[in-house]
Amino acid sequence: MKTSRKVVLVGAGFVGMSMAYSLLNQGGVDELVLIDVNKDKTMGEEMDLSHGLPYAPHKMRIKAGSYKECKDANIVVITAGLAQKPGQSRLELAVENAKIMKDITENVMNNGFDGIFIIATNPVDLMTYVVAEVSGMPKSRVIGSGTVLDTARLRQLIAEYLEVSSKNVHAYILGEHGDSSLVPWEHCYVGCKKIIDIMKDNNHPMEDLKKIHDGVWQAAYEIIEKKKATYYGIGMALNRLIKAVLNDENAILTVSAYQNNEYGQEGIYIGVPAIINKNGVKDILKLNLNEKDQELFDHSCEIMKQNIKNGIDNVINLKK
Ligand code: 2OP
Repeated sequence: MKTSRKVVLVGAGFVGMSMAYSLLNQGGVDELVLIDVNKDKTMGEEMDLSHGLPYAPHKMRIKAGSYKECKDANIVVITAGLAQKPGQSRLELAVENAKIMKDITENVMNNGFDGIFIIATNPVDLMTYVVAEVSGMPKSRVIGSGTVLDTARLRQLIAEYLEVSSKNVHAYILGEHGDSSLVPWEHCYVGCKKIIDIMKDNNHPMEDLKKIHDGVWQAAYEIIEKKKATYYGIGMALNRLIKAVLNDENAILTVSAYQNNEYGQEGIYIGVPAIINKNGVKDILKLNLNEKDQELFDHSCEIMKQNIKNGIDNVINLKK
């Protein structure tokens, strides 16, 4: 019986700690446990974060810990792994990070974990697949951060372009969290008006929508070029996902979710709008994609399948 809201974070790097800092600031978690191969780092982070508690909105137990803490955790978040270097694509990290995911997942499961996994390590759609396969958990309880950050980037860029609040932008990025993502523009709204109609009615050139999407998928490259890594955006996105689970929200977020033919694809994890609650992915919101968007989505899925076949499955099947 889980009595408190407990989150275990595996990976105390920039992404994990940005998430931790945003949890401390927003509250909603009773206990946060930090695990990392670098134990000193987790102890230092425990001290540093705890010193913010007197000014935090709610109390929170923060501690450096071990995999034993997974037993009664509601959520295990994995952010550990190699990060992209300037010019590198996320997919180039696949095999090395798959080995790290396998090891972490075995440690988590060997300690009796029975909650929800949230994965952020890149390439996130493939790493979520690894955790699901290795853990043997129901697929609905393994969630990747998917395109939840790309969707935030899209909403923010549209908000700036149309000068409306990003909170009123209902637009979603589908597919890989990476270069092959897509925007189903026919299904994007500001308030209750289609973005395509807003563009027409205001004589905005339609090509600007493509520029907005380019801005989304190129964002990580640009940030990494300028400051070596991205972490605040994903930290906030992970916080949002954790809240959706802990508060049993039934919130619609574009996560990397297991495909059961909702979009004509099976057996992989990829970014789609999904309903998230205390059980993980409750359902996938199905959109009728037009022919072109379906092709783009299928292409994105094909990239995942090729990577699984040509490397990821070998790592999963490796004996210790
Ligand atoms: C991002 O999109 C690098 O996946 C990371 O910011």
